[in-house]
Amino acid sequence: MTTIDKLLTPVRVGDFTLANRVFMAPLTRSRASQPGDVPSALNARYYAQRATAGLIVTEATQISRQGQGYAWTPGIYSDAQEAGWKAVVDGVHAAGGAVSLQLWHVGRISNRLLQEDGQAPVAPSALRAVNSKSFVVQPDGTAGNAPTDTPRALETAELPGIVADYAAAARRAVRAGFDFVEIHAANGYLLHQFLATGVNQRTDQYGGTLENRARLLLEVVDALVAEIGAARVGVRLSPNFVAHDIEDAESEAAAIYLAQQFSRRKLAYLHIAEPDWVGGPALTTEFRTALRQAFTGALVFCGNYTAEKAEALIAAGTADAVAFGRPYIANPDLVKRFAQGAALNTPDPSTFYGGAEQGYTDYPALAD
Ligand code: FNR
Repeated sequence: MTTIDKLLTPVRVGDFTLANRVFMAPLTRSRASQPGDVPSALNARYYAQRATAGLIVTEATQISRQGQGYAWTPGIYSDAQEAGWKAVVDGVHAAGGAVSLQLWHVGRISNRLLQEDGQAPVAPSALRAVNSKSFVVQPDGTAGNAPTDTPRALETAELPGIVADYAAAARRAVRAGFDFVEIHAANGYLLHQFLATGVNQRTDQYGGTLENRARLLLEVVDALVAEIGAARVGVRLSPNFVAHDIEDAESEAAAIYLAQQFSRRKLAYLHIAEPDWVGGPALTTEFRTALRQAFTGALVFCGNYTAEKAEALIAAGTADAVAFGRPYIANPDLVKRFAQGAALNTPDPSTFYGGAEQGYTDYPALAD
């Protein structure tokens, strides 16, 4: 058995010392209670089962009704949602864990059925993501994938309102007890749509140059730093990501520029979602090293990692922690399994999204 000593050592993130460097990646599971997309006792049990992770990053959570692109995902804009999340956080803390809320606005990856009064989804430009799907409940009650609707381009004057929605969500998150929030600027959603050269065709100060395309994300970062402090703020980026109709000629340059900007603002962590698990080109060692040099906070990588690969990246000094997605769906006690070199349960993709306990809270832990 390879030793994985470093992976299991504490790590400093923001003002916290976390127990180990095995993080749980954000994973949409589409099991919020209805009506109202409210986190439930079942959701709390699922997260508490996984509380031995150094840090849990929750499933992506919409900051507003406008920011929703899939039915049954949780929100953080109503009092009921905040109360539901508080119970989740209390459960994770009682089990000794730490937890970050992933803040989400899907932008154009949505459908009118999810939007207030059937309005069009919003995006940097009125370009439809033709190869992407939203997930909706139809008026007759049947649920399923649906084409995304053509978005409307956001007016410049509307952008402060979006920034304010992020700030209000972060305020609720901290009130619910979250240790961190993670700004979801990855995987082809709103903030990534602004960054991407092929999706953002704006001619105002939010389009064109890299600095302009990064402006909205940095305004969100600055609003959250003002609201809850830099030591509680992380960001997720996905350089070279290709799904959700993202085309970006400058994605690596953007990630390096942003890493430097986040460093200047002393953000707690930067979370890099590597693209190869969804068909993008694998990141190079040179690029990972450049990110390390650009960012002085805690640097987290995620995507197709094993314990051994994670240990090597941490031992090389490139990563401070590694997040695991699919392994965490199937292994609530992933840290213990890594520590013991035990076999891992296999995740079942048919129960990833929607449903109840099955494939959610019933994966077995190792016997004591
Ligand atoms: C994801 N991923 C994801 N990413 C994100 O930033 N927010 C999210 O809500 C989700 N939801 C989600 C659901 C499911 C079912 C999967 C499989 C993936 C991506 C995830 O965080 C991670 O980047 C990938 O799963 C790759 O890591 P692993 O699974 O190879 O460790």
